[in-house]
Amino acid sequence: MSAPLIELRDIVKTFGSVIALNGVTTSVDKGQVLCLLGDNGAGKSTLIKTLSGVHIPTSGQILIDGQPVVFRSPRDAQKAGIATVHQHLSIQPLMSVTRNFFMGSEPTTGGGPLGFIKMNFANKTAKEEMHKMGIDIRDPNQIVGTMSGGERQVLAIARAIYFGARVLILDEPTAALGVKQAGVVLKYIAQARARGLAVVFITHNVHHAYPVADKFTVLKRGQSYGTFMKSDISREEVLKMMAGQDELDVLESELKEFARADTGKSGGLEAAAAAERALAEALHKESDQLKKG
Ligand SMILES: Nc1ncnc2c1ncn2[C@@H]1O[C@H](COP(=O)(O)OP(=O)(O)OP(=O)(O)O)[C@@H](O)[C@H]1O
Ligand SMILES: [Mg+2]
Repeated sequence: MSAPLIELRDIVKTFGSVIALNGVTTSVDKGQVLCLLGDNGAGKSTLIKTLSGVHIPTSGQILIDGQPVVFRSPRDAQKAGIATVHQHLSIQPLMSVTRNFFMGSEPTTGGGPLGFIKMNFANKTAKEEMHKMGIDIRDPNQIVGTMSGGERQVLAIARAIYFGARVLILDEPTAALGVKQAGVVLKYIAQARARGLAVVFITHNVHHAYPVADKFTVLKRGQSYGTFMKSDISREEVLKMMAGQDELDVLESELKEFARADTGKSGGLEAAAAAERALAEALHKESDQLKKG
């Protein structure tokens, strides 16, 4: 068997006395979605920051195609084909779609810092690449701040694919989105996989993770519960691991209290849960179809 595209071996990261990661091992292959799950403060962002050159691990190894690598900066990771959309999105809301798409890699005439940006080419490309992801931008000079949250995530994904990323890392891309928009982003994650990228998708929403993931790594307080193929683990088992059974039992009885207080109002929690389930099922089907075709 060949080596996975990216492998993390026993990664430890400390910040002074804080142990953010305590020996985490996982891997992801091309055409695969690895979902990194865990509660707030579990170490998810820290893990992907070591993978994208923001932090150098205190100890442990990163391997690409079986070869150990050391990323001293985000640029090193980018050069190795790792594109990261961080939790706090690096998009300039007051800039146009095109300028955001090419930010830092503007196509220029004549080369060098004094070249002019090839605006026609840049506009045409940004529009085309967004179209490939299923979003039609009428005017590529449109300010990004006027796009929806989901569209902005898609812009970041399209940019990563265009610039030849092999690995796409998305830190909580669906966290701030409504059910429908989260669905759009999840669809593009499946699409990136269908194009052969390795995707690392971070979330603490199991309902978002389960339909698109091929495997899961569950973190809790810097430790890994291990990595599981989807075929070996149910949604409920993932959820239990994330929360810890005791904490989950407490939560369940608390939720029942809320639900009781909520009766009489229109559907409340149950309606929201039903909507999440319907979304998850629809995505599951879509994801399977993408995989087949
Ligand atoms: N630069 C830093 N300095 C000190 N401590 C840090 C630093 N970055 C992260 N930590 C700590 O490491 C732990 C893990 O943080 P991290 O941001 O990786 O969690 P997370 O799983 O991404 O959480 P969330 O779901 O809230 O985004 C936390 O306790 C955090 O306070
Ligand atoms: Mg985080």
